[in-house]
Amino acid sequence: MGILFVDNPGWFFRIKKFTLAARMVKFMDIPFNKPHFTGKEALYIAESAINGKIAGNGPFTRKCHAYFENKYGIKKALLTTSCSDALEMAALLLNIGPGDEVIIPSFTFVSTANAFALRGARIVFADSSAENPNIDAQAIESLITPNTRAIVVVHYGGIACNMDVIMALANHYNIPVVEDAAQGMDALYRDKPLGSIGIMGALSFHETKNITCGEGGLLMINDKSLIQKAEIAWEKGTNRAAFIRGDVKKYEWVALGSSYLPNELTAAFLYGQLENAENVFTDRAGVFKSYYEALQPLAQKGRIGLPVVPDYAKPNGHLFYITTANTGERNNLLSYLQDRGVNAVFHYLALHNSPFYQKKHDGRRLLQAERYTDTLLRLPFYYGLQQTEIEYIANILNEFYDNK
Ligand SMILES: Cc1ncc(COP(=O)(O)O)c(C=O)c1O
Repeated sequence: MGILFVDNPGWFFRIKKFTLAARMVKFMDIPFNKPHFTGKEALYIAESAINGKIAGNGPFTRKCHAYFENKYGIKKALLTTSCSDALEMAALLLNIGPGDEVIIPSFTFVSTANAFALRGARIVFADSSAENPNIDAQAIESLITPNTRAIVVVHYGGIACNMDVIMALANHYNIPVVEDAAQGMDALYRDKPLGSIGIMGALSFHETKNITCGEGGLLMINDKSLIQKAEIAWEKGTNRAAFIRGDVKKYEWVALGSSYLPNELTAAFLYGQLENAENVFTDRAGVFKSYYEALQPLAQKGRIGLPVVPDYAKPNGHLFYITTANTGERNNLLSYLQDRGVNAVFHYLALHNSPFYQKKHDGRRLLQAERYTDTLLRLPFYYGLQQTEIEYIANILNEFYDNK
């Protein structure tokens, strides 16, 4: 320990102020994401263990299925080990194979494209719209060829894509639409839950999502003719689900499939979360609104871009993003926030420029997808994020742009 002699009292106060500011920064440590717990998760897991039901397709799995089927009015819900798996199931159920083309937005997570690439399809990447990162509905038609077997839409941040336009086009060309609603649980397109509009939809319950079980997903099957096939694919290509219901006396290998179903411990955890879904939805919608209001003045000055929520979309408060003028500014802002205890992040990296797909892509520039890749920044967002924390973050953003 040392002693600092300060002759000039002005210096003393400056040092003190600096120390206080440093303490404040250290004190403020706002994570990007914080999963919440209701307390019921552990109880239900214990119940599964005590009852000796810990493999998949048990009582909690069925409760979760019933929850979504009743709440969304969908034909069939199947829990999966992830949204990636739900999308892989969708590709399998649509019999996607080599020579087929699938239209997918470039600005998305790898799983959206991987699911179809794994079956040998050629991925035809579409651009995002200028108003938000969702697929540009107007850009789809020119990508359709006689080989197009599916259109996959991603409801970015739980903000619905323009489904009337997309479904009309898809129906005209008789092409199924799969909705990647990984971020979209409880968000609506008009009055319809995301994932319930296309032939199939997929949700994610990854740790970063509004409702979570660590890793998990859900496949919504909206076409009756696919239900039996889906149950079989889900249970490793066997008719075990029918056997468990008592519909058949033995189960056997009847089609292609895999182990897409999660164990009961995961389903029990998820069920504990689902019971709190309304609170989560209300709280997160409040966080979204607070961010929007706090940052609107900066957007009005033209310094940042804010999410555009079209009239037809009712989002679920999944995330909040801003866009900056360019990559340099985005990266400087990320460091500026980080230095002040705010953990912001960026994503996605447009897939048409990815190391894996770049050479397979047809060379078209996708300007909006590239712009979001370069300029989008996600702010901390979780259930329980306080108004004071949102104000603190908004102040830092204002300070950053005032100093520019
Ligand atoms: C748009 C999108 N699709 C799919 C996934 C994959 O979800 P999971 O981690 O549940 O497999 C994610 C992950 O965040 C995603 O953002």
